[in-house]
Amino acid sequence: MNNTLQCPLCGREDFFRPNDFFCPACQQPMWFKPCSVPPQEFKERTSSSLEKFSACLPLRTVRPEFSLGEGQTPLIPLNSVGAPGKVWAKLESANPSLSFKDRGSAVVVQKAVELGWPAIGTVSTGNMASSTAAYAARAGLSCLLLVKKGTSPGALVSAAVFRPLLIEVEGDYGQLFRKSYELGRSLKVYFANSVDPLRLEGYKLAALEIREQLGQAPDYVYVPVSSGGHFLGLYKGFMELKMSGYIDKIPVMVGVQAASCAPIARAFEQGLEKVIKINPGETLAHSIANPDPPAGDLILKLARENQAHLLAISDQEMLAAQSQLARQEGLFVQPESAAVLAAFHQLQTNFSGLSVLILTGQGLKAVYQPSPDLRNFYQARVEELPALLNTVLPQTTEK
Ligand SMILES: Cc1ncc(COP(=O)(O)O)c(C=O)c1O
Ligand SMILES: [Zn+2]
Repeated sequence: MNNTLQCPLCGREDFFRPNDFFCPACQQPMWFKPCSVPPQEFKERTSSSLEKFSACLPLRTVRPEFSLGEGQTPLIPLNSVGAPGKVWAKLESANPSLSFKDRGSAVVVQKAVELGWPAIGTVSTGNMASSTAAYAARAGLSCLLLVKKGTSPGALVSAAVFRPLLIEVEGDYGQLFRKSYELGRSLKVYFANSVDPLRLEGYKLAALEIREQLGQAPDYVYVPVSSGGHFLGLYKGFMELKMSGYIDKIPVMVGVQAASCAPIARAFEQGLEKVIKINPGETLAHSIANPDPPAGDLILKLARENQAHLLAISDQEMLAAQSQLARQEGLFVQPESAAVLAAFHQLQTNFSGLSVLILTGQGLKAVYQPSPDLRNFYQARVEELPALLNTVLPQTTEK
């Protein structure tokens, strides 16, 4: 079993320990040392994604009873976007707690039980909190969630329902992120935050699935970026597929940030080697608005090597893309997830080839008042219905 962490920037190695995985030289997260997997080792008939790909995970064994059915999400062609059959959507919103975070949480609970840690935790403002709490409940672990002051009631409820210890913390989010590891070490709580190496191992499985579902690697993969954990995990998945001889080249990654909080995209545009912490502006895309991303420098380096694109998308563009996915494709995703379609629209004129857009989270996770798209909505008494329909039905059949 692979238990070695490696810094992708300087190559330094160390053993995996919960709460302790930042390279002391580069201050960036280390990941599990990439390793190749022979093709015959992927199991065909299994109920969970972790069991199927267990040969390339740093786990001694996979306990299927901790699975909530994460992974093995649909990959569907988009009909209204690009040339027919060229643009696909990977529906990570179809995971059990409605976001890609479940892939990471599923691996984290396996390891926590394997190592005998009684509790897991996370610092989050939304999806990761509910995912971590759900998997802790499933595996019978205690759960400690530290959420930012001002977290929306919807996000609080979708985590609180699993009965974690839930604390709303006031103060700098970056400081809270770093403090959590200290607390975790002293309290024996495994803080599996956004760029944890085990989370990345879960995220990489989406890359393995995409290759399998398409029968080849796509040319481009579009993914929203906040802390950068998801981007890193997918990148590592394609990297390991290449090492294993499954694919010839790693797809070009397109990382998408919210325009009013896009520190990595800005540093990339300016050709910087390091990300500069920024003062964020207002955005509705809360889950992709990290002003101090813990994997920022690493993503910049990989992006340069990979000829990747990192770009910023405005709230208006995200909402327009969210609406297009709903009206023309029947998909309801968060604005943060729809950002990848807006990015595709911006870049597609320069691209030909096969693209996969990763739709990271379900729309109900981010419902705002008033809803930006509550059109064609009326209220009526039963007896008023025929008259109302006579007037409005002809208009509403237009999209
Ligand atoms: C829906 C959604 N998309 C994208 C992201 C960004 O992921 P990461 O922080 O790994 O870059 C998040 C993070 O919370 C999210 O909730
Ligand atoms: Zn290093």
